Amino acid sequence: MGLIWDETFVLGIDEIDLQHRSIVEHFTKFSEAVQDGSAKEVLADLADFLVEYGQMHFATEETYMQKYDYPRIDEQRHEHEEFTLDTLELRKRIEEEGASRELSIALTGRMVRWVIQHIRKHDRDMVNFVKERMAEESKAV
Ligand SMILES: [Fe+2]
Ligand SMILES: [Fe+2]
Repeated sequence: MGLIWDETFVLGIDEIDLQHRSIVEHFTKFSEAVQDGSAKEVLADLADFLVEYGQMHFATEETYMQKYDYPRIDEQRHEHEEFTLDTLELRKRIEEEGASRELSIALTGRMVRWVIQHIRKHDRDMVNFVKERMAEESKAV
């Protein structure tokens, strides 16, 4: 399953959108690297990026959610946890198996579905909520 960044991922808060773009683009690179039979080190570097950048991104979203009292923060945290566990599992399996076909199909497919659904549904709901609160705030000033 391919993942290509397009405008359907744009939610309207630049900081979050740029981070999503980077995550999606690194997933694209990862899928290509698996298909091309790239060296284990290349895959490991990309997986490391996804682990670390994912953490940073979730912290960014958490800051917005806390600042604007997003009511579904626990749901977001739970989903983020799931992604983090998957990226760590991905990293471990690259170390153990290299670029196996099973890895590319099973785990990567699952993660790609997660990214698409999470950004388009969960993050969209959250960003819409935050944007409304920001608009109210700017009116109040
Ligand atoms: Fe996100
Ligand atoms: Fe999120």
